[in-house]
Amino acid sequence: MTVVSITAMSTPVDLTHHLSTEARLRKPNPMKEIWKLTRRRPNMVSLANGDPHFSLYPIRSIEYEMASVAVKDPVASWRAGPSAPSHTMKSSAHEPCALPIQAGMQYSHGTGLPDAQRVVTELTQFYHAPADHLCTLALGNSDGITKCFRILGEPGDTFIADEFTFSSVTNVPLAQGIKWAGIKMDEGGMIPSELERTLATWDPARGRRPHVMYLIPCGQNPTGSTLSLERRKQIYAIAQRYDLIIIEDDPYYFLQYDAPSRATTSPDTPFVRSFLSLDTDGRVMRIDSFSKIMAPGMRLGWITSNATFHDALVTYTDSSTMHPHGFGQMLITEMLAQTGWGLAGFDRWVRSLRAEYHRRRAHFLALFEREVAPTGIAGAECPEAGMFVWIRVHVEKHPRYRADRRMASKDVAGPRTNVKELMEELFERCLDGGLVIMPASIFALSADPKFDDMEDPVEDRVNYLRATFAGTEEVMEQGLAILGRVLEEFFAEELKVFA
Ligand SMILES: Cc1ncc(COP(=O)(O)O)c(C=O)c1O
Repeated sequence: MTVVSITAMSTPVDLTHHLSTEARLRKPNPMKEIWKLTRRRPNMVSLANGDPHFSLYPIRSIEYEMASVAVKDPVASWRAGPSAPSHTMKSSAHEPCALPIQAGMQYSHGTGLPDAQRVVTELTQFYHAPADHLCTLALGNSDGITKCFRILGEPGDTFIADEFTFSSVTNVPLAQGIKWAGIKMDEGGMIPSELERTLATWDPARGRRPHVMYLIPCGQNPTGSTLSLERRKQIYAIAQRYDLIIIEDDPYYFLQYDAPSRATTSPDTPFVRSFLSLDTDGRVMRIDSFSKIMAPGMRLGWITSNATFHDALVTYTDSSTMHPHGFGQMLITEMLAQTGWGLAGFDRWVRSLRAEYHRRRAHFLALFEREVAPTGIAGAECPEAGMFVWIRVHVEKHPRYRADRRMASKDVAGPRTNVKELMEELFERCLDGGLVIMPASIFALSADPKFDDMEDPVEDRVNYLRATFAGTEEVMEQGLAILGRVLEEFFAEELKVFA
């Protein structure tokens, strides 16, 4: 096992000024405060809470039949089906186990159950060795990030993200009155000099300078890009200079692959260092999830942050979702215990999982070469991590492509080209052909014509499609065959005459 042994030397900075008015005004849940007192000393007698007694839970035990990680390549072995070796773990009310049902199914604290919090803390320590951070359990990354936005965001704020980003998450704080400023990207993800330029030239008429940045450092959704260590260090230094909080959304951390020329990803290939592992100030809030490495229906993840933000998250959670469900917390506690997979077994699972996705990536790219590349109308970069391929459509080859739209429409601040319209048409043609694929436009953070440099607006760069290699070989085969066909037909059309 490769352990991250470098614990960042901590020189924590007071970051309390980043907390939102809501976070400052929120009072601890008074009932939870009393509830905590039941733990003041052992054998406290509590007549305080309406906690159903465990003898009335109609559950005596829960068995989890999971993949065996005692084999060399656990994911390949597990894919063999019902005959594959398995490892049964159990949560029980009466038999010894890591987190008994009595405790696991009871009300708990916004941090999560202490045993579950301990195992994710050990896991975080193992991979990232952060300095002075605490873990707070959440219901997956979406929930964790939503909570970060609530404790940090003020109406009128502008947050920073990649110009193409995971809109499911950036959509969330809009209703809080938060806007987004997109930073230009290249194949390597966010361009640090563009980030610096945006911050250095910030116009105060636009509101206060951004103090929060949302990033997906590995296998970025949607572009598939991965930030190199060099870029991470540069971005972290900029965050320090401009006092930014970094929300590191990293569900694809464990899905980092070797080069496509290699037959597989070696279990020994180290994971690139996270922002959390570089964080000396306490300005990184890292969000982890079991969705991509176990199952999305787990709805379980955790936030790693400084103690001040942890307290604000817990106060918020205590008055909203309370804590994640006991089932998931019991499962991960058993799984990471010595009687379960343990940390070493978990590590074997994730390293084997990325070898499986390496294979799927190779299959996707081979099919792309066969079905799409020969059209000459689209190309794809090989992602270093994650589940997505960002397909570039050479839209300038379309007979109706126009690069002078502004002259015709007199709209000096709008897009220069009709890329967006053509891509919308292409999307419809794909649907007609029986293929759903994600258009880049739904991930683009529109530029603000009042403040942004409109020489190169993002709308002119939406000539991409996001496709995933997470599915089966059959789905990839059918999908890419349709894409190749639709592209050919759409680009072969006769030039229509416009009025
Ligand atoms: C970048 C990113 N963040 C968050 C999520 C959602 O994660 P979760 O299922 O943990 O809420 C996804 C899922 O696709 C994602 O790609």
